[in-house]
Amino acid sequence: MFVFNDIKNLQQHLLTFNNDKSIGFVPTMGALHQGHLSLIKKAQEKSDIVVVSIFVNPTQFDKPEDLVKYPRTLENDLKLLESVNCNVVFAPTAKEIYGDKITSKSFTFDGLEHQMEGKFRDGHFDGVGTIVKRLFEIVKPTNAYFGEKDFQQLQIIKKMVENHSIPINIVGCEIFREEDGLAMSSRNTRLTDEHRLAAPFIYKTIKKARKKFKKNAPEKVISWVKKKFKKHPLLKLEYFEIADEKTLKTIKKKDDDKRYRAFIAVFAGEIRLIDNIKL
Ligand code: PAJ
Repeated sequence: MFVFNDIKNLQQHLLTFNNDKSIGFVPTMGALHQGHLSLIKKAQEKSDIVVVSIFVNPTQFDKPEDLVKYPRTLENDLKLLESVNCNVVFAPTAKEIYGDKITSKSFTFDGLEHQMEGKFRDGHFDGVGTIVKRLFEIVKPTNAYFGEKDFQQLQIIKKMVENHSIPINIVGCEIFREEDGLAMSSRNTRLTDEHRLAAPFIYKTIKKARKKFKKNAPEKVISWVKKKFKKHPLLKLEYFEIADEKTLKTIKKKDDDKRYRAFIAVFAGEIRLIDNIKL
């Protein structure tokens, strides 16, 4: 496994493959878990070389304290990546990526950025767009892999590639869960024992909501979920929305030819957890 911190050496290494081998790229912020590894596995199925980036991107954090507290476990991450036969790791510094000006570029994603996470995390998707576009320009992969765990992010990256005519195939990967159903996340390690025990309630509830959606109007399902969380002593609902998968706009009534997904954000103490489910 080759590990690079600077762009020049990474690109020089990748040049040897560029013409006749496909490159699968998995961008991450490190603190790797099985969810990330499932993306790498998928990348290995289709690409000759798999490149994983580890970079805690400062411009996508809306709260400075979240950036400070974000888990950084590089040594362990590298061990994990080695164990799954990752080929190349790119772990740059902020200076290597941004130079002296750590700022986002401004993006429009045809309105996708104003829904859900966009309403609650100011500037988040400009930060994501900025770093992913930059990483794409550096790595120049054939395929890039993103988890449905961050479904809005996945749709936004697809939109960015389309709007900027970037010749990269974006592949969405299913949510990888703990045995008790909690969606794997780097933030789960920051949960207190009490909140960790409570957290599977999120997936349990959205699974029940999916069942209810079959026979009930969206409004009814939403108020049922809100009621469930109101009664919960440890989990605080930030939003629960039912939206069109493509536009991410919330819906008032069902249309047979459209695909829907339910999205949820919950505070477990200080830790904000998100999840979603196909309806
Ligand atoms: P990060 O949170 O590290 O996630 C990296 C990738 O792993 C994302 O595509 C995310 O959706 C996916 N992922 C995380 N948990 C998952 C799970 N339980 N199941 C399936 N996939 C999962 O997302 C980011 O980093 C950043 O925003 C990034 C795209 C790297 C840009 O900085």
